[in-house]
Formats: sequence, C-alpha cells, structure tokens
Amino acid sequence: MQNWSPNSWRNKPIVQQPEYSDQASLEQVEQSLSAMPPLVFAGEIRALRSQLAEVANGNAFLLQGGDCAESFAEFNANKIRDTFQVLLQMAVVLTFAGSCPVVKIGRMAGQFAKPRSAGTETSNGIELPSYRGDIVNAIDFTTEGRAADPQRLLQAYHQSASTLNLLRAFAQGGFADLHQVHRWNLGFVEKSPLGEKYQHLADQIDQALAFMEACGLTSEVTPQIHETSLYTSHEALLLGYEEALTRQDSQTNDWYDCSAHMLWIGDRTRQTDHAHVEFLRGVQNPIGVKVGPTTTPDDLIKLIDLLNPENIPGRLTLIARMGADNIEKMLPPLVRAVKAEGRQVVWSSDPMHGNTIKASSGYKTRSVDAILKEMKGFFQVHKAEGTYAGGVHFEMTGQNVTECIGGAYQITEEGLADRYDTYCDPRLNGEQALELAFLIADTLKEARR
Ligand code: PEP
Ligand code: CO
Repeated sequence: MQNWSPNSWRNKPIVQQPEYSDQASLEQVEQSLSAMPPLVFAGEIRALRSQLAEVANGNAFLLQGGDCAESFAEFNANKIRDTFQVLLQMAVVLTFAGSCPVVKIGRMAGQFAKPRSAGTETSNGIELPSYRGDIVNAIDFTTEGRAADPQRLLQAYHQSASTLNLLRAFAQGGFADLHQVHRWNLGFVEKSPLGEKYQHLADQIDQALAFMEACGLTSEVTPQIHETSLYTSHEALLLGYEEALTRQDSQTNDWYDCSAHMLWIGDRTRQTDHAHVEFLRGVQNPIGVKVGPTTTPDDLIKLIDLLNPENIPGRLTLIARMGADNIEKMLPPLVRAVKAEGRQVVWSSDPMHGNTIKASSGYKTRSVDAILKEMKGFFQVHKAEGTYAGGVHFEMTGQNVTECIGGAYQITEEGLADRYDTYCDPRLNGEQALELAFLIADTLKEARR
C-alpha cells in the first residue's frame, strides 16, 4: 500500500467529526486505546473476507443487521442475546427456505458513532451540538450532555469487548446449535402468524437433523451443526479511535483495523479525496461503502479503484441505500458501470436509510412497505442486469419495539409512541425482521431455480 500509514488520514479533509474542547485529553485517550488488546484478530478478518468472496461469486448471501446506534444505558446481556437470536432466526430461514449459505455480520460491538445531517440542534431557542452517538456525547439536551467527552471512547471500547465476548460465547457455546432452533423464537414473536410459520420451518429442520444423525452426520463430526460465526461491523467514523485499534499482523505485516471484522464508510463520508477513504484503503478488512442517491458511476469507479485496486473478491461491499422510489432508476447505471469494468464486489441492499420519514406525531419512522419495496427493486434490478443481489443490511433489534410502521402486527403511526426506544433511527422489531427474512428467502429460492 503506497503512501499510506495508519495516520495518513490526518492530512486529508474530514467531515462529521466531533469538536473536542480538550485536545490533550483526547490524545491521551487515543494513546491508551492504542495500548489495549485488539477486539478481533487478523485471522478472523481474513476468514470473513473469504466468506464474502463466496458472496461476491454468487454462492452465499450476506445478512448484516443490528442497532442504528448502540447505547451505554441499554447495555445488557438480554438485549445482546435477543438481537443475536433474531439474526440466527433470519439466517436459518434464509439458509433453509432459500437454500443458500448465509454470512452473518452484526451492527454490534462497536456501532456507536453517528453522522448527522446538521452539526447542531435547536430546541426552545437553545442551540446545542447534535447527538453523535454515546461514544461522543450524551443524548440529553443539555450543555454538559452534548459536550464531546474523550472518556466515552474508552467506555465504548470496553462495552464492545464485553459484547463481543458474549457473542462469541453464544456463537460457539451451544446456544446457536441447530437443535435449539425452536428456542430462538422470541416470546412476542411466538404468538404471531410469523411465529407459527417459523415453528413450522423449525420442525422441518428437526426432521432433517434427525435424518442426518441417522446417517452419522452428528454435531461431533459436523461442527457447523453445533456452532456458528457472527462477525462484527460498524461505521468507521471516528478515525482516531479506528487508528488506535489498527495493528500490524505479525504473520503478513499487513495492517488490520482490529476494532471490528468489517468497517463501512457512510454515505456522508465517502468523498474520494477525504480522510475516511484514505484510512480505509490501507487496512485489509472487508470494507463496505454506502451508496446513496448522489453517487455517480464515475465516483463509484474511482472509489473502487482506491479501495480495491487489486480487485480482490470479498474486499468490497457496495451497500445501496437509494430509497424505495429511486432504486429502480438510480441503481442500474451503477450496477452496469461496475459490471462493465469487471469489478468484483458484493452488492447489498440497505432498504432503511433512504426511507426515513417523519410521522405526523413527530416520530422519525420507516414503513415496512417502503423497506420491502426498495428490497424488491434491488433484486429486480440485479435480475435485469444479470448481476447478483448479494445481501441485505438492516437496522433491527430483538426487542419488541414500535419504531417502524406496518408489518404483520400493523404498527400504526399512533402506535409508534408505545415502545419507541431507539437512540437514533427507527429499527425493525424481531417480528418485522423475521417477516422480511421469509420474503427474501422466497426471492432467493426463485433466483436459484
Ligand atoms: C447508518 O448506517 O447508520 C447510516 C448513517 O447510514 P448512511 O451513511 O447510509 O446514511
Ligand atoms: Co441509521
């Protein structure tokens, strides 16, 4: 990698950064972070990259999901378990009903920092800095709350470490054993039509497992039955934090950002001559880039040149987030340009961020119908262009929240107030997420036929 070092981004323009009043204390925190253990390891990152290469080649599907913003206050084991459980359910639906291996990546264990549409927020005539995620400042609308506090970087690191520790235990310690497939149904989902549909699928899996066991394919000889992998990801927004966790692999001498397995660049920070692209071009992790409505084919090819000059499959995931009404018009020229240039990428769909609306009650929400429409459009475009629709990217939670309208329970605008808990964007609840997984499975099955 030429002219790159973990801090070369510092010479480039940068947007969406907090303003710290105490630079010395920020530097001190970054120093401490750089001495702390990595959260993930180079070998795991390479394993994810080769699984994503399978997705790029059309042999697997990517499921990426989790919170919009993790928070310090709502950090507990049950919440981590419930989100993991919904991801497992969705993955099993896609694998079984869609007959397709699934690569699972959580927006978890590090998804704290948020880009904002405005630097400040005004309420009752008072103007304060915007909330940028718990890793930066507090959601409380007070002068102290909104001040950027470097100590929060350390708290985010420690919370990520404990979250990851629990996720590893869940993935490998028996919780994710396919024999437990019935138990992954969350209480509030179980009673719904989706819950029944899921139980039916779980019965079929039980039968398949019993058959396999009778043939000698038990958990002992087939570890895939007993355990799974859940990789982690977040938006690499605070580059001081990312730099501090970037380490040189002793085996290869390559640089890896060990704060998560996969990092992505947000739609607001993908300028080709800016700091975020500069930083991420030099680390070997799989990288995502959000591709929003303002992306031109030329921009996109330039970005790919910078981020994946060697055209390595699995290195780059393009995450389209156009909006339900734009996708069929805006995605084809981009897909065509990438295909014409022979670039190896994973195309994934984020049907959330282009579909945020304000309900009359004032809540920021998204409708399941619009989310579904964008996803269908995404699959349609790839079918028409002869390319592979490789994955989906959701903001979702295992909690029974009422943040997105629609779905099998028909959450209404009036119902949003019941359990609107998000710190940032509205998330799908466990049932809405499962419903979408069944619909994607149908599409995958049809595409494979
Ligand atoms: C996000 O994924 O939380 C996000 C802010 O997305 P985007 O950069 O696509 O707006
Ligand atoms: Co979001």
